[in-house]
Amino acid sequence: MMKGTDPVSSPSHTYQFVRGQFDSDAVIFAIGGGKGGIGKSFISSSLALFLAHMGHETYLIDLDLGCANIHTSIGEPLPKLGIHDFLSDPSLSIKDVSVPTAIPNLKLVAGSSDMLETADISEFQKSRIMGSLYKLKTKFIVLDLSAGTHHSTLDFFLMATNKIVLFTPEPSSIENAYRFLKAAFYRKVRRLENQLELTEMIADLMSRRAEYGLKSPGDLLKAIQNKDLVAGQKLNRILKDLHLHVILNQVRTLKDTDLGPSIKDVCVKYFGLPFNYLGHVEHDNAVWQALRNRKHLLLEYPHSKVYAQMMNITRNLVAPYLKRDMVG
Ligand SMILES: Nc1ncnc2c1ncn2[C@@H]1O[C@H](COP(=O)(O)OP(=O)(O)OP(=O)(O)O)[C@@H](O)[C@H]1O
Ligand SMILES: [Mg+2]
Repeated sequence: MMKGTDPVSSPSHTYQFVRGQFDSDAVIFAIGGGKGGIGKSFISSSLALFLAHMGHETYLIDLDLGCANIHTSIGEPLPKLGIHDFLSDPSLSIKDVSVPTAIPNLKLVAGSSDMLETADISEFQKSRIMGSLYKLKTKFIVLDLSAGTHHSTLDFFLMATNKIVLFTPEPSSIENAYRFLKAAFYRKVRRLENQLELTEMIADLMSRRAEYGLKSPGDLLKAIQNKDLVAGQKLNRILKDLHLHVILNQVRTLKDTDLGPSIKDVCVKYFGLPFNYLGHVEHDNAVWQALRNRKHLLLEYPHSKVYAQMMNITRNLVAPYLKRDMVG
């Protein structure tokens, strides 16, 4: 069975709730990045659309709870059912509140229609969403996340099998994406420190950062290993298995294009973890023009560069899972 889940990223009381349900058949992709308006919803809907086009049953989940707009990205009206119904009725599952779309194989779970912010959901509600997602019987799940670094957003990001961080060439977007990654990194480490009995050591290292010369998350990982090789290596192994990816969206110039690989290199150096650069997606006015016509660009303009770029990104992302299927 494919490991699609990540038990240790859940808080201990969440763990109780979803205990025994960590093995997900589905491969989960999450698209995050600190800043708003950088294209998270466009990229997540494009990814879901291509996965469905390839013939795989795919769920696109709008976890930007306050903004409930992923349906517009794929040209669907706001569904009558959505996360809000799931949250207000404990007997419902995520599957129960999903709706079919005009795109074969693509199911949609809409965000809340009553301005519920992601920040407003309780730990219990978040656990219910995560537990029900883990239980969803499907090939792929794509999570569209909200902007910012609220705990719920970080936990939804960390629960994914593949975690995609979206950058654009704008300095503020780059800063926000690093901030988002840093917040996710420390959240993950905090989830693990108890289990690996590293709580005291990490607290000590963090409180004496200057003394230990810790300038980055990668330095912290090295310092932990220096103090406790076995636990440090365990921590490293888990973190190295996070499957982190980078996409650069809204690229306008050739110079922008070079930014992608450098951003990835900085991530590797700063976090001391592997990152995979999936490629860039051009800025194309057709994206919002299509949106205005209530159609997805990939359906409206199949000859555009953005179409080819998104198709390559999707192929690279799913290749490991399709190969596995052929072998198995
Ligand atoms: N590659 C692109 N080329 C042109 N426009 C784009 C591109 N990607 C996204 N956009 C446009 O940028 C705007 C913001 O995109 P989107 O809603 O996907 O961002 P977001 O990160 O999900 O924002 P939020 O954080 O508010 O949810 C939309 O109008 C979208 O059409
Ligand atoms: Mg969005």
